[in-house]
Amino acid sequence: MIDRSRVNRVMKETEFIEISAGVGGFTQQDKMWLCRAGEVLRRGGLVAFPTETVYGLGGDALNPDSSRLIYEAKGRPSDNPLIVHIADFEALSAIVPEIPAEAVKLAEAFWPGPLTMILPKSDAVPYETTGGLETVAVRMPSHPVALALIRESGGYVAAPSANLSGKPSPTLAAYVAEDMGGRVDMIIDGGEVGIGLESTIVDLTVTPPRILRPGYITREMLQQVLGEVAVDATILRSQQDCGEAPKAPGMKYRHYAPAGDLTIVSGAPEAVTDYINRRADEDRASGEKVGVIGTEEMLARYRADVVKSVGHRGDEEAIAKRLYAILREFDDEEVTKIYSESFSTEGFGQAIMNRLLKAAGHHVVEI
Ligand code: TXA
Ligand code: MG
Repeated sequence: MIDRSRVNRVMKETEFIEISAGVGGFTQQDKMWLCRAGEVLRRGGLVAFPTETVYGLGGDALNPDSSRLIYEAKGRPSDNPLIVHIADFEALSAIVPEIPAEAVKLAEAFWPGPLTMILPKSDAVPYETTGGLETVAVRMPSHPVALALIRESGGYVAAPSANLSGKPSPTLAAYVAEDMGGRVDMIIDGGEVGIGLESTIVDLTVTPPRILRPGYITREMLQQVLGEVAVDATILRSQQDCGEAPKAPGMKYRHYAPAGDLTIVSGAPEAVTDYINRRADEDRASGEKVGVIGTEEMLARYRADVVKSVGHRGDEEAIAKRLYAILREFDDEEVTKIYSESFSTEGFGQAIMNRLLKAAGHHVVEI
């Protein structure tokens, strides 16, 4: 639940509404709000809304002025393209000149859901939305509020994650309010998101298709549908290490960076704990405030100012859902040094480690 006092402090003209799509669907009141939010988007305004991955900051994807407003609200460089969100597969034909067979197969398998496809764009999509590119990123989210809002708005919603540029993507409406209060027309609170990390991005304009950003839909899952799938070299290695820039413009920025200096420590669990404790003692002696991101199993062993559990080691879904919230909490608590355990890079773990490595500026200690 939202801490109202905190929200009101930051809100100016932003309207804040709550819609929780329960099993019985939307109430009459919810439908009225969704209709109003749709109108805001049609008129060129901005509405932040929940998706199953993270909260999005929505504008009309076919209106260049709306896309400009999105960049402004986020403080985001305008060469970093936006994802166009649709609610029906048929909507794709207006924004993509020719739909490749791979896109049909992927949509059948994973839409609605946390998968974004890069496809050639049609003239209907303004360059303001694609950051000047000839391709467009498209996703059909599965969150009922997102789907209803897209339909109410005319069918095409450009939505980056609803955080200020450089902050972790928001997994709660309260985080959206912190970053976007006073910068958007409306924030729809749909509770905590389901996944907690942004969608998988797969580029279908190259052969073989290539993952530009890992997410809940893993390489293995894509390969079952498409056969061979490549992975952008920069996903788990720094740009300097692999000597090439990431293909998704947004992945080149140092995103998700906490204010504290984050180090990932990799090795056998006991050795990792000992190392972190030693470093934490030294740092604290020199006046630093130290935070630790640990797994539930190891938590009791840490000595630091703030120790946070990211979940049980084997429970990747819990770790993904908690990670961005922890980074924000450390900022709030003004932690200056952060140490994190390292996680498996298999399956969904690849997405977790990709975000953690970016947050750490690829600073890893192997022991
Ligand atoms: O889960 C998600 O995808 C969330 C929710 C709100 O749907 N959205 C999201 O959007 O993460 P954003 O803007 O934060 O990230 C979009 C990423 C950026 O890294 C951007 O560079 C990349 O997608 N991208 C967008 N269009 C692209 C294109 N045509 N070619 C390559 N990369 C593209
Ligand atoms: Mg983002």
